[in-house]
Amino acid sequence: MARTARFLAVLLVGLGLLTWVAHLALTRTTRRWFERDVELRERLAVASARSSLVRQWANPAALPEVLADITRDERVMGAAACDRDGRTRAASEGFPEAFACRGVLAGLGARGLSPDARDGWSLDVDLPGGPVRAYGVALPELPGGGFVVIVHDMSFVGRREATTRNQLLLAFFVLALAAAAVTVVAARLAWRGWQDDLRRALRGDGGREFQPLMRDVRELVARLSQERDADARGGVWSPERLRGALTHHLQGERVVIVANREPYIHERKEDGTVRVVHPASGLVTALEPVMRACSGIWVAHGSGSADRETVDAHDRVKVPPGEESYVVRRVWLTEEEEAGYYYGFSNEGLWPLCHVAHTRPEFRDVDWEQYRKVNQRFADAVCDEVDSDDPIVLVQDYHFALAPAMIRARLPRATIITFWHIPWPNPERVGICPWRQELIEGLLGSSVVGFHTQQHCNNFLDAVDAFVESRIDREHNAVVQRARRTLVRPYPISIEWPVRWLDGLPSPAECAAGVRRELGLAPDALLGVGIDRLDYTKGIEERLAAVDTLLERHPELRGRFTFIQLAAPSRTRIARYQELNDRVEALADKINARWSEGSYRPVVLLRAHHEPPSVFRYFRAAELCYVSSLHDGMNLVAKEFVAARTDERGVLVLSQFTGAARELTEALVVNPYDLGEASEAMATALAMPVEQQQERMRAMRSLVAHFNVYRWAGRMLIDAAQLRSRERLSVRLSRREPGSRESVL
Ligand code: G6P
Repeated sequence: MARTARFLAVLLVGLGLLTWVAHLALTRTTRRWFERDVELRERLAVASARSSLVRQWANPAALPEVLADITRDERVMGAAACDRDGRTRAASEGFPEAFACRGVLAGLGARGLSPDARDGWSLDVDLPGGPVRAYGVALPELPGGGFVVIVHDMSFVGRREATTRNQLLLAFFVLALAAAAVTVVAARLAWRGWQDDLRRALRGDGGREFQPLMRDVRELVARLSQERDADARGGVWSPERLRGALTHHLQGERVVIVANREPYIHERKEDGTVRVVHPASGLVTALEPVMRACSGIWVAHGSGSADRETVDAHDRVKVPPGEESYVVRRVWLTEEEEAGYYYGFSNEGLWPLCHVAHTRPEFRDVDWEQYRKVNQRFADAVCDEVDSDDPIVLVQDYHFALAPAMIRARLPRATIITFWHIPWPNPERVGICPWRQELIEGLLGSSVVGFHTQQHCNNFLDAVDAFVESRIDREHNAVVQRARRTLVRPYPISIEWPVRWLDGLPSPAECAAGVRRELGLAPDALLGVGIDRLDYTKGIEERLAAVDTLLERHPELRGRFTFIQLAAPSRTRIARYQELNDRVEALADKINARWSEGSYRPVVLLRAHHEPPSVFRYFRAAELCYVSSLHDGMNLVAKEFVAARTDERGVLVLSQFTGAARELTEALVVNPYDLGEASEAMATALAMPVEQQQERMRAMRSLVAHFNVYRWAGRMLIDAAQLRSRERLSVRLSRREPGSRESVL
C-alpha cells in the first residue's frame, strides 16, 4: 500500500510539473498569436479606410464617420485622426481620453518611437478598465502630415488565457486520475503475473524469467531449513549438543587441532612453584571450550618455562588441570625456529600484511625458511597423533598456512579444515608477500578454508584467482586444483555460552563497588574499560585519544569518568610492539597530566597479564567497554563483555572495523579514527537510560547465546563430516569407475 502511494505521488508530481511547463509554453504561444491577429486586423482596418481618411481629412463633418467605420470591430474601443503637431482633428465615440493625440505623441517620444514610422507603431498600456493597445499609422500623403490611432481592448487575451489554463488543469486532473488508475491496475496485473511466474519457477515448471535466481533461492532455502531443523532438534548449541553432533556425524572420532598457542601454559614462578597461565588469545578463548566438549588432541608450541617438566614421554599433557578432558601435545621449538617462524614470518610478516593497521610487513628469507620448517614439524606431529588414514584435522590460523598441504601429502584422505582467525586482505595486499603462491597453495591442501566473514572469503578467492593455477567455482565458493576441491566458507567465530569464568564471580554490582574501592574512586564514579593484548591493531592509542577528546568536550565528566585499560604484554621481542608499549604509556601520562586533579587520574593503565576471572570482573564493573580495533577478524572481547553483563547493563562501543560489528548491531558502532564520533559515543553510553541499555544488551546477549562457539565448531565439524562421507563415496566409486572423482566431490 505504501509502495503504491509512493508511486502515485511520484506520478502525480511528475504530471503536475509537465502540466505547468505545458501551460507556460501554451500561454506564450497563444499570446503571440493574439497579438499578431490584432495587429493584422488593425492594419487591415487602416488600409481599407486610408483613402477615405486622406480625402476627408480636411472635412470635419465627414471625418468622424470614416473613423466610425474603422471602429466597427467589437474589440476596437475607438479611433482618432491626429495632426502631426498633436492636435486632435477628430475622434470616434468611446475613444479613451488617455490616448488624446498629444498624449500619444508624448508616449511615443518617451519610448523613442516616431509617429512617422512607415510600418506603424504600437503602445501597450494598462488602463483602469483593463489592458489596451494603441496602434498608429502615419499618413505622409497629407499636406501637413498626420496619423491615425486605433485603440484595441486587449482584456480578452487575459480571459482566454484563464480559460485555457482552467481547461488544461481539468485535463491534467482527469489524465492524472486515469493514468493513476491504469497504472495501478497494470502494476497489479503484472505483479500477479510475476508472482505466478515465481511460483512456477519455485515449483520447477517454467517461470523462465526467474530461472537465474532459482539456484540461489533453493540454496538459501535448503540452508535455512537445515539450520532450522537442526536448531529445532537441538535448541541452543551447548557442549552436550556438540558432543552429540560428533557422535552422530563422526562416530565420536577424535578431533586433532593444530594451533600455535597452547591453552594452558606452565610457568615457573620466582618462588620455584609452577603456575598455569591462560593466555590472552581470542583463538584460545574460542577453541578451548570446544576441545573440552570434544576431547581430542591440541598440538601446540610448548612455550612455558615449566612446560617440559609437565609433559609425559610423548610430550603430552592432559588438561584442563584437575579435569583432564583432552590432551595437549607440545612441540618444542629452538630459539632460532621461534624467532623465524613465530616472531619473524608470522608476526612481522603475515600479521601486519593481513591487518590494515599501517605497520609495514617485513619479509625475510631466513624467517620464511624457519616458517616452512616449523610448519613441517607441526604437520608431522599431527600425522603422528591421528588414529586413522582419514582423520579430521582442524588447522588454526596464520601460523600454519603451509601445514594443510603438508598434512595432505602424508594423509591424502584426511578431512582438513583450516580456520584463518585474522582478516584475509585483498589481492593487491597479498601480492606484497614474496611467497604468496606457496601460502595459498599450502592452504588449498585443506578440504575447507574458513574465515570470519564472506568478505574475507571473497578476498581469498580473488587471491587464488590472481596467484595460482586453478579453477574457481564461484557458484559453490570452491577452488578446484588437480581434481581436488577446497571449499571456502564463512564461519563467524564466537565464545562459549554461558562463560564458565562467571561461575563464582561476584554480582555486577559487587564487582562495580569492589573495583571502585580498589582504584580509590568514589562509589558513583563512571567507569570505562578496554581489555586487549598490547597490539597495534587494537587501536589503543586511538582509544585513549578518544578519552582525551571526551574530557575536552564534556567538562562535566572531568573528575568523574575514569578509563581503565588492561593491556597484556604481547610479542614483546618485536620492535614495533616495544614502541607501541612506550607510546601507550606516554599517551596515558600525557592525558593524566592534562586532566588530573588531586587524586583523580582519568586513565588507569594496567600493563600486565590478567587471568580471565579478573578480566570478567572489570567487564562487570564498567559503565562502558570500548573496543576500538583498527582492523580485526572478529574480536571476542566485545562478545565477552556482552556475556559478562548478566545484569543487562553497560554499553558496548565497538569499532566498525571488527567482524563483531556485523553481528552486534546494538552496540554503538564507531570509526575509531574519528575521535569526535568515538568520544560522543562514549558520552552517549554514559548518559544512556537504563531501559535502553537493557534493550540493547538483551538483544546482543540473545545473539551471542545462540551463535556461540559450539555452533561455530558444530557447523564446521558437520561440514567436515559431510565432506568426508562424500569423499568416502567418491573413493568407492573411483575404484569402480576411474576418473569419476571430481564430479562426486
Ligand atoms: C590473535 C591470533 C591468535 C593468537 C592471538 C594471541 O588472536 O589470531 O592466533 O593466539 O592473537 O597472540 P599470540 O601471538 O600471543 O598467540
